[in-house]
Amino acid sequence: MTNGPLNRKLKMGMVGGGQGSFIGKVHSIAACLDNRAEVVAGAFSSNPQRSKASAADYNVAESRAYGSYQEMFDKERQLPEGERIDFVTVATPNHTHFEISKAAVEAGFHVMCDKPMTFDLGQAEELAVLVDNSSVVFGLTHNYTGYPLIRQAREMIQSGELGEIQAVRANYIQGWLRSKIEDSDQKQAAWRTDPSKSGAAGCFGDIATHAYNLGRYMTGLLSEEISCHLRTFVPGRKLDDYGTALIKYDNGGLGTVTASQISHGRENDVTIEIDGTKGSLSWAQENPNAMQVRANGQPHKIYTRDPNAPYMLASGQAACRLPAGHPEAFFEAFANIYAAAFDAIVAKHSGEKVERINTVYPNVHDGVEGMLFIQQSVASSQQNGAWLPFKCDRARR
Ligand code: NAI
Repeated sequence: MTNGPLNRKLKMGMVGGGQGSFIGKVHSIAACLDNRAEVVAGAFSSNPQRSKASAADYNVAESRAYGSYQEMFDKERQLPEGERIDFVTVATPNHTHFEISKAAVEAGFHVMCDKPMTFDLGQAEELAVLVDNSSVVFGLTHNYTGYPLIRQAREMIQSGELGEIQAVRANYIQGWLRSKIEDSDQKQAAWRTDPSKSGAAGCFGDIATHAYNLGRYMTGLLSEEISCHLRTFVPGRKLDDYGTALIKYDNGGLGTVTASQISHGRENDVTIEIDGTKGSLSWAQENPNAMQVRANGQPHKIYTRDPNAPYMLASGQAACRLPAGHPEAFFEAFANIYAAAFDAIVAKHSGEKVERINTVYPNVHDGVEGMLFIQQSVASSQQNGAWLPFKCDRARR
C-alpha cells in the first residue's frame, strides 16, 4: 500500500454499479487494484431494493448499501474520519452526474466521476467553480489517458521529441448500435440513445469525448475552432450515431475526431495518430502494449510497454505494473487514473498543496472542455458544419 502518511486504505462510496450495470464494477476493481482503497458503501442503484441486493457483489455490509446517494452522503458524514467514505465514485447515466457530484463536493467528499462530466455545459461550468472553491480532489475517468504508452507518448511530445505537433487524428469506432437495440430495452443502449438522459449528443458525447480528450492530453494543443458533421444513420434513433469533427489548434495545427457506433464488427477501436515536424506516432487501444514511432529515412520503431527498457520515460514506467510481455490493459489504465487521484488525496490529507489544473489524472476542467466539445459539435452540425469557437477559458498543459 502506498498511501504514505495516511497509513490506511481510502474508503470508497459507489453511486451506480448495481446489478446489470457495466462500468461501476470496473471502477471498483480499478480503485482497489493497488490495495490503496476499499469499497465500504454504496447507493448502487436508483432502485433502493436493487441497491441493497447489489451490496454483496462489492462485499459491502447491507447497512451501508443505501437507498439513495443523498442518504449515503448524510449518513456517512456522521461517521468518524477513517470510517466514513473518503471519496465518491459516480458511475451512473450522464443526466445524474451533476446532481450527484455537486452533492458530494458540498458534503466534502472527493469525487471520481465518469464521462461525459455532466448533462450540459452550464452544469459543467457550475461544477468547476464549486470544485475550485472547495478542497476536494475531482477526477474524471477519461481512462485511456492511463495507458503507460499514452503517458510515455505525452512525455515524449512534451520534451519535443516529435518536434512541433501539427496534426492529430483521433478515432473511436464501435459497431454495437448498428441495429436499434434500444427498442429491446438493452439497458446501456436505452439511456445512451435517449436525449433526456444522454445529453445533446449520442455517440459524440459517449465516445468522441474520449477521443478528443486523448489528443488533448497527449499533445497539450489548445483548440480554437471546431466544425462538425453528425449523422443518425439508424432510422428512428433520436441522437447521432456517427460523426466527424475538424478542429483548428492555436498553433495552426489541425485535428480530426471521428466516432462511430454503427461500424460492423468494430469493438472498442480507439486509435490516435499524431504528426510532428520531427516524427509521428500511432497507438491503438485494442493493442495497447505497443506504439509505433516513425521518422522519415529511419527504420520504424515499435515501443513496447516495458518498465525496464531504457527508452521508457519516467511517466510511462510509473504507469506499468507488470514486466514486458505480460499484457496490461483496460483495468490497469483505469487504475492509473485512480492512483494519480489517490496521490493527490493523500497529499491533501498531509496538508500539502496539490496541483489542480495540470494534473496527471483528467480533472474537472477537462470535463468542462469535454462538454464544450459536445455543445459546439452539435451546434456546428446543426449549421451544416459551420466553424464555431472552441476555446476553453483556461489555457493549460
Ligand atoms: P449502466 O446503465 O450499465 O449503469 C448505470 C447504473 O447507475 C445502474 O446500476 C443504475 O441503476 C444506476 N443509477 C442510475 N441512477 C442512479 C441514481 N440516481 N443513484 C444510484 N444509482 C443510479 O451504465 P454504464 O454503461 O455503466 O455507464 C455509466 C456511466 O459511465 C455513464 O456516464 C457512461 O458514459 C460512463 N461510462 C464510461 C466508460 C469509460 O470507459 N470511462 C465506459 C462505460 C460507461
